[in-house]
Amino acid sequence: MERQIMTRISSQAEAAAATGIDRHHPQNLVELKNIDKVYPNGTVAVERANLDIAENEFFCFVGPSGCGKSTIFNMITGLTEHTGGELSVLGTESKEARKENEIAFVFQEPTLLPWNNLLENVSLPLKLRKVPKKQRHEEGERVLELVGLKDYTKSLPSQLSGGMKMRVSIARALISRPKLLLMDEPFGALDEFTRQSLQDELLRIWSQDQRMTVLFITHNVFEAVYLSSQVVVMTPSPGRISDVIQIDEPFPRGENFRVAPSFSQYVQSVTSSLEH
Ligand SMILES: Nc1ncnc2c1ncn2[C@@H]1O[C@H](COP(=O)(O)OP(=O)(O)O)[C@@H](O)[C@H]1O
Ligand SMILES: [Mg+2]
Repeated sequence: MERQIMTRISSQAEAAAATGIDRHHPQNLVELKNIDKVYPNGTVAVERANLDIAENEFFCFVGPSGCGKSTIFNMITGLTEHTGGELSVLGTESKEARKENEIAFVFQEPTLLPWNNLLENVSLPLKLRKVPKKQRHEEGERVLELVGLKDYTKSLPSQLSGGMKMRVSIARALISRPKLLLMDEPFGALDEFTRQSLQDELLRIWSQDQRMTVLFITHNVFEAVYLSSQVVVMTPSPGRISDVIQIDEPFPRGENFRVAPSFSQYVQSVTSSLEH
């Protein structure tokens, strides 16, 4: 569980060697080339966005409200079409990639079914795909354990705190073993203590998984620096990607990173990039 980033890189390289992929050029999971999004009412939400997202990365998107962060996510998941440029998701078009169940999302509102217990809630995506009950419940137990809720399989959402509901939401997203996990301000409604413990949980889950890439939207620069391997900085009107800042700090991260001088330096460079 407690691994250094080097372990991640070397096992990634081993996996790549086994499949014959050049380890120095890991495949990009997502590529945005000169992406524009103009909504039908004329709003230019995103303009000429360029970004390469490689496997196993943790990308945070920061930028003021309305700068196009959610729009970029919606284009990646195929919820809305881009109006210019080229977008590739898992080597294909986003709509095709979505069909493969390799993309999952988590939103700020957990949207659980109140009359279903946690096991039923997290295994719903498998039920929709007609996976047999025994198998989907096994998978449900696996992901509830992963988020620390294995003793709550029979509980109802109304019995849970906000942080626990978010864990259930994350578990439901993980049940399909996605390659790409998109999270749109997932911790924005949580108190600071719960937020920090979920950040650590999320990093632990991501470190355990050797193939998942996380894209995460946040307003919070501290959260972005703590979580990311790369921070994407966006500017508004029209929404542009103005900077991609690499957070060159090994994983696992913990309290020592939150108070380290390097942490404040990264926070400063992201903040000053946001101001330009
Ligand atoms: N469906 C829509 N139709 C028209 N304009 C939209 C739509 N969705 C978002 N916008 C506009 O596009 C811009 C970017 O929005 P959004 O991607 O939601 O920003 P963010 O997630 O960074 O707050 C904003 O000006 C917003 O008002
Ligand atoms: Mg948004």
